[in-house]
Amino acid sequence: MDFVHYSVMKEECLQGLKLSSDGIYFDGTLGGAGHSYEILKRTAPNGRLIATDLDKDAIENAKQKLSEFDGRFTLYNTNFKNISSVLKEYGVTEIDGALLDLGVSSYQLDNRERGFSYMSENVRLDMRMDQTSGKSAWEVVNLYEKSKLSYIFSVYGEEKFAENIAKNICEERKIKPIDTTGELVKIIDKSIPYKFKQNGHPAKKVFQAIRIEVNEELDGLSECLKDIVKKLKKGGRLVVLTFHSLEDRIVKQTFKDLETDCICDKRFPICVCGKKKEVKLITKKPIEASEQERKENSRSHSAKLRIIEKI
Ligand SMILES: C[S@@+](CC[C@H](N)C(=O)[O-])C[C@H]1O[C@@H](n2cnc3c(N)ncnc32)[C@H](O)[C@@H]1O
Repeated sequence: MDFVHYSVMKEECLQGLKLSSDGIYFDGTLGGAGHSYEILKRTAPNGRLIATDLDKDAIENAKQKLSEFDGRFTLYNTNFKNISSVLKEYGVTEIDGALLDLGVSSYQLDNRERGFSYMSENVRLDMRMDQTSGKSAWEVVNLYEKSKLSYIFSVYGEEKFAENIAKNICEERKIKPIDTTGELVKIIDKSIPYKFKQNGHPAKKVFQAIRIEVNEELDGLSECLKDIVKKLKKGGRLVVLTFHSLEDRIVKQTFKDLETDCICDKRFPICVCGKKKEVKLITKKPIEASEQERKENSRSHSAKLRIIEKI
């Protein structure tokens, strides 16, 4: 299957990075390498790119796609949260900019076998970005307790009928394990009253929730953003694209923390916490996709772009 992914807000991300032709850039979410390709193109002849992705298909595809820039890029099949060890292995202590385009790629969604899509039917529940390790969606759906399922659907999926869906999953799996995406979709469908099924596919929120749980997408995200800022040179930018409100809230709050000086109680005569602001906010409000892009790519509808600069 071809590796197709439409890079969201490509121009805005690249402008946001303020690229320089001898800079070193980190793309934590390589995906279809659309952003990475442009970084390398626009930083010729000396710019360097270090990129990570959990998905080995993304790494293999990018080796081909970026081959014209051979010698200027290094790819790691790992979590971007390992940025410190990646940079250490690469042999640098500082970078000029970093990009995170969070979530899954269109390739992952469209590749039936990966089990990310509620549109596919007889596909084993998987949803792992890294198919070589960790729990799969099958384990979440078949082994988690009802209360934990309900929590995940409600918090990660913002699903109103979380409790009912969790209850029905637990009843069905007493009869037989829920093995496929299609079986799960049917259970979700019967758990949501008809009049609430008008806004998009009924399984969308639960699938998002399970995907977030399987890939631990929100765990350690805030700490990772802070680690990246530590690695930025003065004037270096961190550009982050999010696709749902939970992720965006974490990014927004972390950027705010990083932009805040002293957090002592206002009644203290002098600062005892010693906290100093580390960044300036480049985007006071997140940038959203243009009308044109929204028409061309539905995935851009929920995208929010936030940028900070190390001071
Ligand atoms: C939205 S796509 C990136 C698309 C890319 N910017 C492009 O232009 O083609 C997100 C990619 O990030 C990867 N990914 C998500 N979370 C990750 C993590 N914590 N560490 C490494 N890769 C991750 C996914 O496997 C996926 O390939």
